Amino acid sequence: MTESPAPPHAGDGEALRGRALAALLTARERTTLLTDSVDDHDLTAQHSPLMSPLVWDLAHIGNQEELWLLRGVAGREAMRPEIDGLYDAFEHPRATRPSLPLLAPGEARSYALEVRGRALDVLESAPLGDGPALVRSGFAFGMIAQHEQQHDETMLITHQLRSGPAALTAPEPPRATDAPTLPAEVLVPGGTFTMGTSAEPWALDNERPAHQRDVPGFVIDTAPVTCGAYRAFIEDGGYGERRWWAPEGWAMVREHELGAPLFWYRDAGQWLRRRFGVTEPVPDDEPVLHVSWYEADAYARWAGRRLPTEAEWEKAARHDPASGRSRRYPWGDEDPTPERANLGQRHLRPAPAGAYPAGRAPCGAGQLIGDVWEWTASDFLPYPGFAPFPYREYSQVFFGPEHKVLRGGSFAVDTVACRGTFRNWDLPVRRQIFSGFRTARDL
Ligand code: AVJ
Ligand code: FE
Repeated sequence: MTESPAPPHAGDGEALRGRALAALLTARERTTLLTDSVDDHDLTAQHSPLMSPLVWDLAHIGNQEELWLLRGVAGREAMRPEIDGLYDAFEHPRATRPSLPLLAPGEARSYALEVRGRALDVLESAPLGDGPALVRSGFAFGMIAQHEQQHDETMLITHQLRSGPAALTAPEPPRATDAPTLPAEVLVPGGTFTMGTSAEPWALDNERPAHQRDVPGFVIDTAPVTCGAYRAFIEDGGYGERRWWAPEGWAMVREHELGAPLFWYRDAGQWLRRRFGVTEPVPDDEPVLHVSWYEADAYARWAGRRLPTEAEWEKAARHDPASGRSRRYPWGDEDPTPERANLGQRHLRPAPAGAYPAGRAPCGAGQLIGDVWEWTASDFLPYPGFAPFPYREYSQVFFGPEHKVLRGGSFAVDTVACRGTFRNWDLPVRRQIFSGFRTARDL
């Protein structure tokens, strides 16, 4: 059992330099769209106590880039040491950020732009082939591109929470032409597989190292649970029956009087939802979005099933029984393309269940990458041999039973921050994120 060999670009300094440049430019294009599509009032307002003002994300993106690429890689002096504290996510919780003396929109834009100009100069001459660990294989540049894209997903969540007319539009995702012939679930036979990675050059610390996991046989849904299936749970009184819920989940439902996913409401007997400033009927065939871990867990119990563990999810997504290897992605080792997965905010919604036949895994499950983040049953814990890199505050301080792991990425995350090994995590009550799930069962 092993993983696929390092991708061809991994050992090629010039290829990595090109990939790093492209990833940084793609991220900045997205950041610019997300911050130029609303006015200064919307940039500085707090649209939800769960989120930062958009202008905070913008300057924080620049500040992290300065910290890691200018000070870290190139050893430069701080450009504006007085602002570091403002943009340290650990110093100020999100709810308090609007009352800080933040850079105004124009200042935040020029700061991020100035950092970027200098960072591209650093990239031009950085020794990506054999430098110190931070620059080797272009890691710091890949990490910063991923960081910006993660905040671009966060900023898209802020757009979704904002009231008022639509600021963003995008074409519809592809249809699911062969959905009727898809089996509802597929078998993943028992046995050891390789989880995590030691070969992927820009994998973050929590994805490392590759290690063996024995996973008994199980059955998993071929697609994420749809709004239509979830509606059946609601209409069966699922939110009113304690027996389906974990105790803390039941407490959450009672305290906040929950009865449907976030952004859904009922009008004249019909389920509607608000999505980026537009109200529309809830589409039955689309993966359900904006559910907490507790709701996913309750639905699965109601359905006589359970959430997959993180190891089960990764085995379904990566294990190739023909070669015994774990692939970089469900479809193989090649990078994502628009035919394989709904990523990168190309569409502002998940594709219907059964879309992306070219993205299926060897086991037959589809849409594992892209569309919706999938809650797993697992707590966010380090792999055996984990080492924090390059900073403890990325992963290590979040390990423990209070965070649940999400896998696979959503329509809102870019390819640079999404792969078969990528791990996301959040509190089990959170539902403003682009979260859905699929279910599993024992053999
Ligand atoms: C991995 C998405 C949970 O947004 O809190 C951004 C990513 N870390 N800046 C987050 C992150 C530092 C992180 N998540
Ligand atoms: Fe951050």
